[in-house]
Formats: sequence, C-alpha cells, structure tokens
Amino acid sequence: MRVLITGAADGIGKALLELYVARGAEVVGVDVDAERAAPLEHEHGVTFELVDLSDREAVDALAAKLAEGDAFDVVVHNAGISCVGRFARSDLDAQRAVHAVNLEAPLVLTAALLGTDRVRAGGSIAFVSSLSHQVGYPGAAVYAATKDGLASYARSLSVALAPKRIHVLRVFPGPTRTVHAARYAPKGSDASKRMPPERTAKAIVRAIDRRKRVCVPGFGTRLIAGLGPKLPRLMDRTMRKAILEPLDRDAASKRQRRA
Ligand SMILES: NC(=O)c1ccc[n+]([C@@H]2O[C@H](COP(=O)([O-])OP(=O)(O)OC[C@H]3O[C@@H](n4cnc5c(N)ncnc54)[C@H](OP(=O)(O)O)[C@@H]3O)[C@@H](O)[C@H]2O)c1
Repeated sequence: MRVLITGAADGIGKALLELYVARGAEVVGVDVDAERAAPLEHEHGVTFELVDLSDREAVDALAAKLAEGDAFDVVVHNAGISCVGRFARSDLDAQRAVHAVNLEAPLVLTAALLGTDRVRAGGSIAFVSSLSHQVGYPGAAVYAATKDGLASYARSLSVALAPKRIHVLRVFPGPTRTVHAARYAPKGSDASKRMPPERTAKAIVRAIDRRKRVCVPGFGTRLIAGLGPKLPRLMDRTMRKAILEPLDRDAASKRQRRA
C-alpha cells in the first residue's frame, strides 16, 4: 500500500503517517519542516519530499516528480496554515500563502496525480477541510474560504471519480491539540479541550477504510457541525465571543506593546 500525506511532519499528518506505517504501508510525506521530518524518516523508514507548498514553482516540481513515480492507494491533502485577525488589517501576502497551501496546492497535486493515473482504481483521496465549513471562522475569513473551497471541490470531484472507483473523503476536524491550533487560537485558550491528533487521525483512517464521503471526528464536533447550519445566528454569536473578540484583544495588546 502506498500513501501520500501532506503536512506529515507534525500534528494530524504525523499521526496519520504513524498509523499507516504501523500497517506496513510505504509512506511518502510532504512537509516544509526538515528538522521534524528527518527523525521520522530515520525512525519509520518513510520518505519525505521537503517542499514549501506556498511556493507554486516548488509545488509544480513536486507534481511533476509524483507524476513520474509509482501510483498511490491513499492520498491525504492535510497540510494547512492560517492567518488570524481582522481581514482589513491583515497582511495580504500572508493571506495569499493561506490560499496557496490550503487550496491551490491540493488542486495542483490532484491534477497531476489524476492526469497521470497515479491514484489506483479502488484508492482514496482525502481532503482535510475544517469545522469552519459548518460554523464559519470570524477572524480567519480567508482560512474559512479555502476550507469551504476544498470541501466543495472534493464533493464535486467525488461524483466525477466514482466511475473510476476512486473514493473521495471530506474531513471536517474541530479543534485538535496541535501546533496549528496553538499558533492560531486566541492567547490563553484552553488546549485541554482540543481533541488529540491521534484520535483525529484514527477517525480519518477508519473513514477511508469504510469509503465514507464525510468524516467529522468526535461526537462533540459532529453535534456542532449538525447544529451550525441550522442555528447560524447562535453560531455567529458564539464564534464572535469565543474567537473574534479574544483575537481583537490579542491584537490590541500587541499594538500596545509595540507603541
Ligand atoms: N488543529 C486544529 O484545530 C484543526 C482544526 C480544523 C482543521 N485543521 C486542519 O488540519 C490540517 C492539519 O492541521 P494540524 O493542526 O495537524 O497542523 P500542524 O500541527 O501545524 O501540522 C501541519 C504540518 O504541515 C506543515 N506545513 C505548514 N506549512 C507548510 C507549507 N507551506 N508547506 C509544506 N508543509 C507545511 C507544518 O510545518 P510547520 O509547523 O513547520 O509550519 C506541519 O509540519 C490543516 O489543514 C488544518 O487546517 C486543524
């Protein structure tokens, strides 16, 4: 079994890598972080492609390389970044990078893999979106837009690939205890409430095994994902209080420290 996982050196991607290695799969990881990839290569005998997925030329080169290699049984587009704060005050280059990593790179890599039959018939492609798809993400509007885009793309792709027996999974994780969450959450938020990445990864692998269309890891996350579209005003109020206002306070104290 050959598996490709982006963002595989840490967090959910690393937990996925370890689960597939435990099954005896040949895993190819993609990540920007050479320091964290090296021990994983050493410990698990996996291969890493060290690529910055926000760099289009580097992504094109990776796409060309993957198109010349052996086919994959499972591909997980997991790498993702964010940029938090009021959009009107944000750095547009940082927002472009969010778009490039979260949406453009998965599309470019998928085009190369499908265009050269590098996903085996009977195989799976999983796209890691976010619970923001169901509840919005005030304070990370571009992140939310890319995750919506990815989910929408995957949904349509799944119909087109069904005759080839290629399964497409959309994943909507809620808060997960990773560097990503710690980096982008408001300061002082309670990390203990976040789901361990190993649990998220197990849910993803199970959903791939069962050829599910959608995976929302965890009962609490499923509840919120179900209520989100039904109670949009309540969700907006909750997200404003839990995310946007604390992020505003963080930004204000950062400005004060600079002044
Ligand atoms: N954690 C959550 O609460 C949560 C919730 C919903 C959805 N998600 C989604 O789940 C996915 C995985 O998140 P995670 O929390 O596991 O993230 P993570 O802990 O930050 O791990 C992601 C990995 O991707 C790498 N990466 C970042 N930018 C990259 C780039 N430009 N090119 C190549 N690799 C890059 C990271 O390297 P560096 O650390 O060196 O940047 C890291 O090794 C993301 O798509 C995220 O949006 C996460």
